[in-house]
Amino acid sequence: MNGARGADVARLIDIIDQFRRESILVLGDFVADEFVFGEISRVSREAPVLILRRREMHTLPGGGANAVNNLADLGARVHPVATLGDDAAGDGLAEYFRKKKVDTAGLLHRSGWTTPAKTRFLAGWPHTAQQQVLRVDREPDGLPDAAIEMIVRKARERIAGVSAVLISDYGYGSATPEIVASIRGRKRWARPVTLDSRHRLHAYAGLDLTAATPNEAEIEAAHNAQIAGDPSKLDSFARRTMARLNLGALVVTRGRHGMTVFERGRAPQPLAVFGSDQAVDVTGAGDTVIAAFTLALAAGASVLQAARIANYAGGIVVMKRGTATVTREELVAAIRSDASEKCAEPGCSSAGVPGSSPRTSPTG
Ligand SMILES: Nc1ncnc2c1ncn2[C@@H]1O[C@H](COP(=O)(O)OP(=O)(O)OP(=O)(O)O)[C@@H](O)[C@H]1O
Ligand SMILES: [Mg+2]
Repeated sequence: MNGARGADVARLIDIIDQFRRESILVLGDFVADEFVFGEISRVSREAPVLILRRREMHTLPGGGANAVNNLADLGARVHPVATLGDDAAGDGLAEYFRKKKVDTAGLLHRSGWTTPAKTRFLAGWPHTAQQQVLRVDREPDGLPDAAIEMIVRKARERIAGVSAVLISDYGYGSATPEIVASIRGRKRWARPVTLDSRHRLHAYAGLDLTAATPNEAEIEAAHNAQIAGDPSKLDSFARRTMARLNLGALVVTRGRHGMTVFERGRAPQPLAVFGSDQAVDVTGAGDTVIAAFTLALAAGASVLQAARIANYAGGIVVMKRGTATVTREELVAAIRSDASEKCAEPGCSSAGVPGSSPRTSPTG
């Protein structure tokens, strides 16, 4: 089952309406997603290379900062805890969130440290499409103990007031299994805790997490084996990951194949992509998915309801250029249009599909 009908639609919209009453702690690796635009002017005389005449540069929040940005645009109050370097990329990210009225007190500037950054160079002529010609990444060294202690302290100060915790580990040191263990201490989490980890999903065993949202490549890497489009392998790897991390749920994102939702004691639920599978830009779609999924869980959704909302969010965001976000209005419009499309199919009654009822309108 994929599309939403009747009372089901009303429930998803109620959950989305609840988003603005939730606050979320994000423990994450902030990345600056930089885009340098220019025109190819000529071939260099120094070497057989093209010269890009730089016109402008835009910086967008990437990695954990993209999850924060998505949460903010979905209406949540967000409390990020992350490390930034004392460089232009770090200052740019802090300024971006300050302007957006996100709580920036947990953004820890560290002198001598490099803010992780991915710079894409996009070349074109005035009347042609832009094309990426090069990407340059800046990667920091590891964080010293003092920086890690600060992260743990900031996170512990904030945790009592939030309704969920989102961990976005891109391998740059602000979100690690050791930091999560120190934040948690000896108690069980009293709220949903979700994980996205690029390189070490299985290192989060024993931390009492609620759910994780790996992509297929991350599941393959964790099991050191290929899925190769075989659903029985996906199922077996997912179940083993859940057992190992003691997770109640696992949402495996599968690019243009959508996602599959695994829950303990239930059959897997595949969700097809919403909208077109001809994506414009898939950068950061996974961050949008974990943001919408976590916020929906915080708002009281079941795992499947939260995954369906996240799947709509993923389908919308890949139709936008660059590292992008989704709003509640866009989510509600997508759910309604999907339901009315499904209702053109035989056997569907549209009774109960909310139209423009003010009660369910997600404004404010
Ligand atoms: N080509 C596509 N067409 C339609 N939807 C897509 C496409 N790629 C991704 N999506 C949507 O975005 C969701 C997440 O995408 P994906 O599986 O690529 O995550 P990811 O690899 O973790 O991304 P990230 O690069 O942010 O880490 C998918 O579950 C799907 O809903
Ligand atoms: Mg991802």
